[in-house]
Amino acid sequence: PPPVHANITATSISTAQRLPGAIIIGVRKGGTRALLEMLNLHPDVEVAKAEVHYFNLDENYRRGLGWYRAQMPFTLPGQLTVEKTPGYFTAPLVPERVWEMNPAVRLLLIVRDPAERLVSDYTQVLHNRLQRHKPYQPLEKLLLLKDDDDDNNDDVDDGGDGVDHGKGRHRRRIDPGYKALQRSLYHVHFQRWLEHFPREQIHVVDGEALVRDPYPELRKAERFLELTPRIKPSNFYFNATKGFYCLVSAGHDKCLDESKGRPHAPLRPRAFRKLCHFLREPNKRFFNLVGQTFTWC
Ligand code: A3P
Repeated sequence: PPPVHANITATSISTAQRLPGAIIIGVRKGGTRALLEMLNLHPDVEVAKAEVHYFNLDENYRRGLGWYRAQMPFTLPGQLTVEKTPGYFTAPLVPERVWEMNPAVRLLLIVRDPAERLVSDYTQVLHNRLQRHKPYQPLEKLLLLKDDDDDNNDDVDDGGDGVDHGKGRHRRRIDPGYKALQRSLYHVHFQRWLEHFPREQIHVVDGEALVRDPYPELRKAERFLELTPRIKPSNFYFNATKGFYCLVSAGHDKCLDESKGRPHAPLRPRAFRKLCHFLREPNKRFFNLVGQTFTWC
């Protein structure tokens, strides 16, 4: 019997759209697209190409699980469906909603230095605004608050330690209300996920390690997802022009698009230091929650 024909018949009978067995929940700008595309190298993994935004957007959530399932790729029984929506990590209602869908779903969280993440987040918003010919404030304007009574002392700062050094010195504090900063307070959001899911159901991927050398991070993810190891070092090559690893699959190579790994908007070193200082304590809390440390600024 012609095996090709037999294959086609079997495939057309059993493929179906299925709810995801694993979700990449964030973090925004952490490397979520790279992780999804790299997992997709595995023959037993099929991914939703576009971000689904089901659990975080009420207008989608109201459409119900039938709608959600219809956003998923067709898979064979035994294949794993994966979707990624970085907005899930920080949206308050999402952990409970995901748990209600499937309390056994596996969660992947890719993190990166939250100060770098913030600058990347700002850069993305800036690009989107410029594309729509809309103006946008410089990052420092959004990130730093100015004390009301210090209006005449614009050029003096606190030396980056976040401490006011006294009379005549201008003190510019980090604005804790800045949205992109709040998204970088990983411990706040992670804590909420832990209220619904046990720690071992959330696999944390080191975003900087994924940039440096993707294969070991993918190997760990395969293990977490209980997949037979099929992704190989030869699936990756470093593209010097792009400055990042690109993917090789079935003889084709593919880099992520130019919005991934683009130059960051400028931020003066002393403002960056202040940001790092502000994040020191939140980062420590996050390390305690995940039981792992990262070498962030
Ligand atoms: P930058 O653009 O700040 O460098 P996300 O997909 O969640 O939006 O994350 C985007 C980030 O993925 C990029 O941030 C980039 O650093 C990171 N990244 C990780 N691996 C990459 C790869 N192989 N190619 C391009 N970008 C990659």
